[in-house]
Amino acid sequence: MTKEEAKIKIEKLTKEINEHNYSYYVLDKPAISDRDFDLLLEELIKLEKEFPEFLDTNSPSLRVGGEIIKEFKQVKHKYQMLSLGNTYSFEEIKEFDDRVKKNIGDDFEYVCELKYDGLSIGLTYENGILKQAVTRGDGETGDDVTVNVKTIKSIPVRLSGKDFPDKFEIRGEIIMPHKSFEMLNREREEAGEQLFANPRNAASGSMKMLDSKEVSKRKLDCFLYYLLGEDLPFNSHYENLRKAKTWGFKISEYMVKCHDINGIYEYIKTWEKEKENLNFDIDGAVIKINSYKQQEILGYTSKSPRWAIAYKFKAERVSTKLLSVDFQVGRTGAITPVANLEPVHLAGTVVKRATLHNADQVERLDLHYNDYVFVEKGGEIIPKIISVDETKRDKTIAKKIKYISNCPECGTLLIRKEGEAIHYCPNETGCPPQIKGKLEHFISRKAMNIESLGEGKIELLFDNKLVKTPADLYDLTYEKLFGLEKTYFLEEQQKERIVKFKEKTVENILKGIKDSKKIPFERVLFAIGIRYVGETVAKKLALHYRNIDTFKNADLDDLNNVEEVGSKIAESIVSYFRNNKNIELIEKLKSHGIKFEVSESSASFISNKLSGKSFVVSGIFKKFSRDQIKKMIEENGGKNVSSISAKTDFLLAGENMGPEKMKKAAKLNIPLITEDDFLKML
Ligand code: IVH
Repeated sequence: MTKEEAKIKIEKLTKEINEHNYSYYVLDKPAISDRDFDLLLEELIKLEKEFPEFLDTNSPSLRVGGEIIKEFKQVKHKYQMLSLGNTYSFEEIKEFDDRVKKNIGDDFEYVCELKYDGLSIGLTYENGILKQAVTRGDGETGDDVTVNVKTIKSIPVRLSGKDFPDKFEIRGEIIMPHKSFEMLNREREEAGEQLFANPRNAASGSMKMLDSKEVSKRKLDCFLYYLLGEDLPFNSHYENLRKAKTWGFKISEYMVKCHDINGIYEYIKTWEKEKENLNFDIDGAVIKINSYKQQEILGYTSKSPRWAIAYKFKAERVSTKLLSVDFQVGRTGAITPVANLEPVHLAGTVVKRATLHNADQVERLDLHYNDYVFVEKGGEIIPKIISVDETKRDKTIAKKIKYISNCPECGTLLIRKEGEAIHYCPNETGCPPQIKGKLEHFISRKAMNIESLGEGKIELLFDNKLVKTPADLYDLTYEKLFGLEKTYFLEEQQKERIVKFKEKTVENILKGIKDSKKIPFERVLFAIGIRYVGETVAKKLALHYRNIDTFKNADLDDLNNVEEVGSKIAESIVSYFRNNKNIELIEKLKSHGIKFEVSESSASFISNKLSGKSFVVSGIFKKFSRDQIKKMIEENGGKNVSSISAKTDFLLAGENMGPEKMKKAAKLNIPLITEDDFLKML
């Protein structure tokens, strides 16, 4: 392919991919299959690699993130980022409506919108290109989070059409859809990390991350609701937003115009009910005056516009009877008190249980058995108990709920670290739910991937005393497994399920276990379940220490120097290796042939060692093919470029390299290195 052809093809693919992203992420109507989309993207990536001179900083191929920054630049907002006045009742809306009419008369339009529950963002576009994305901060100055925002696929990096102003800002809300939120918390649970309380916290936590690749995995979304600029196409809010939709922005379908306060009431009443059917959180409605001229007349207070108001939904609240409190023990030994309630309808679902979080919360509520409690579903998906209805308490028999001091599963005395709210059972290797949880984690897809053992089978093995530690899995035989059986009662579905190990099941289990011996070190490190060591951290640790022996001897200082490892993780690692049972486990796993060092083939080379360095690879090599070498450069953070320039860092020279390249490198003083020099660099 000639350069000219490549340029045209790259442009065509970019346009096509951007259009598909728009159909998928903005319109929610995919036009092609995921596989076909991936093929287009792969083709683009391949061409951009071959012709790096045509790689655009806004290419859709770069939207998976990758840039790691040290800290966010502080940027002053061109237009101050105001907030909105809040109202909680129809009377307050009426007062707002009266004020409006007093100032601008009766001839105006209201625009009613959803109030998205996320974090606000201001996006600046110049000549149709996304230039900067800034968080609210204190309203005057915010964080420049452009690299993170570029990973949100529903935000266009390049606008469609031609009729957008040369320069403008558009503001909106970054949100985390329910599905992304559930997936994220599931993964965090698996890694023993603290869960996010609600999608809003998860969205704003995600935007604060310094590694945009991690942000891209969070699957965020963004609704836009406010345009600012000197030459906007219309003199009114609604019309401008509809126009912005044609430029590729995600503008809500649920924005409506109305003429009087009754329209506002209707809108609020509708969405108070309908919000249950949205796949993201809203916490109210926003009412704005449509005409900019009238907005100007109404003006601003120091904090918020007088031409707009927010109505916050009341969190739905019901009263029900507290039946009992369970103390659940999680995989990491964390104790969660959970209230069992008399079933009650709340915000579209039947609630039977509510979390009580921790001992402080139980104390604060002053809970007694048989109390009537108020349950609320606010921003949180899991309902919580807000308060006790003391008027309904029968004081003659009321008995206060006592927090437990020993583990309900194994009897061990619970501990509570200073400054932490949660109690833990420290019996990591002897407490049944912790043992089962560890085993479940060990076999999970992202760890040892022994899928044939999923769905309750671990429980069966544990109950039959066949496995207690992950190492025991490797002692299982056909004879031990065949014929095992157990009946479970599935509470959710109110039915029984029988798990029985027949011939095929046993064969699959044994095969899965055998295959897991090929799982690379980094995943084994994740699988053994050191608290706070998630997938990414495990990878960094594996690359840094290369084998378990070096790793287990690392001290706090040393661990703290590893990328992504902070003192909390470092302490958890040191304490893990102080426990002899863990050392024993590792030794046993080792004796079964589990990988405890990085294999020196392919994947072992992944690092950041060549970060920021560019290479021209030329000629024929002895140990690796040219393509393999190029792949290694990329896997270690370096960049391949096709021709030598003053910016090139190294010319990696094999045999039969053309004399022209050699001459050019010498002229520009670019170091020439051999294949062995290169391997040493790694
Ligand atoms: S308009 C000057 N519209 O709510 C007016 N804000 O409490 C600027 N929000 O800071 C805001 N949905 O983060 C507007 N449809 C919507 C909104 C919305 C959510 C957020 C936004 C704002 C906060 C005000």
